[in-house]
Amino acid sequence: MALGAAVALSSCAGTSEQAAPLVIANGEQIIDTEGNPVNCHGGGFLTVGDTTYWYGEQRPSRMSSPQLGVSCYSTTDFKNWTNRGIVLPVSEDAAEGLTPGCIVERPKVIYNDKTGKYVLWFHHELPGRGYEAAHCGVAVSDTPTGPFTLLHSTRANAGQYPINFPDSLHGKHAGVDFDNLEWWTPEWQQMVDEGLFVDRDLEGGQMSRDMTLYVDEDGKAYHIYSSEENLTLQIAELTDDYTAHTGKYIRIFPGGHNEAPTIFKRDGEYWMITSGCTGWAPNKARMMHASDIMGEWTMMEDTPFTGEGADTTFGGQGTYIVEIGGQPVFVADIWKPENLKDSRTLWLPIEFGEDGVPTIPYVANYEIKR
Ligand code: GAL
Repeated sequence: MALGAAVALSSCAGTSEQAAPLVIANGEQIIDTEGNPVNCHGGGFLTVGDTTYWYGEQRPSRMSSPQLGVSCYSTTDFKNWTNRGIVLPVSEDAAEGLTPGCIVERPKVIYNDKTGKYVLWFHHELPGRGYEAAHCGVAVSDTPTGPFTLLHSTRANAGQYPINFPDSLHGKHAGVDFDNLEWWTPEWQQMVDEGLFVDRDLEGGQMSRDMTLYVDEDGKAYHIYSSEENLTLQIAELTDDYTAHTGKYIRIFPGGHNEAPTIFKRDGEYWMITSGCTGWAPNKARMMHASDIMGEWTMMEDTPFTGEGADTTFGGQGTYIVEIGGQPVFVADIWKPENLKDSRTLWLPIEFGEDGVPTIPYVANYEIKR
């Protein structure tokens, strides 16, 4: 069923002047204003004035077909989405491997007040190299609808150790024979804890795959990414113009296998919801919190999701937490690896108990708050 068909009209007698509720039927295809399915996955949102832009992965129906780049849709009500085209194109003559056959995942756009530029970060894999490059790409534009120009595509924080990493461990794994290293043994786990991959990648930069961006109330922005072979999350501070890392970063939950980071802040507390690491298959999400984004972070014992299907995040994997009508909404992808283009989206409002801890029950129909 198309989204248009899922819009329920209010039948409340005597409230005809009241706006009818807009409803998204979770998991159904979202149809844009031209009648085509929205193709925007692993994405994020940016609100400018009355308009919210949704940026995401443009996906072909067959995995083997090249991606076209980052797609963008705009809305003023979260129901009617206008296709704004490909705002960061993959092309034959692009620099730094943004060329056909590359992988563009989890794009996020933030606005920089100081420069007046829109800044797009994404997970970038180079053509023909699978997921081995683990780069973050950065592009800028003067307008939210692009075109964005690629500035660079690199690993993260080359030459820097995390600020929450003891000096005594610097260089500890210099002599490790990575080709003959046995993974998943207790010794290996301890080496991971003690920065095995931080050391390995020190010179060339830390791996950067699933990612999100967060702009704090003081205007400082952060890049949160799965690093160290997807085993460990890193949170890195961005420069004032948001186009690079400052070199100040932390690593959290070494060996914890957290992917798909999503984050929001409420009453001074940062809450992050991540997935486990099972590729396109859904798994049990995790939740962690901190009063300072640069740590300490505390892992909650359980997932925030409740009810039937909670242990597989209702079939989804988080991509962004967007505020709609004053309420944080967890947005997730229901991946369809056999036809990624047809992957669906889950919209789940985040609720809070008396203790202020987020919980997320399933709703078949998300009623858009206005
Ligand atoms: C997932 C990740 C996706 C994509 C996929 C590839 O774990 O969250 O963004 O990279 O793996 O298998």
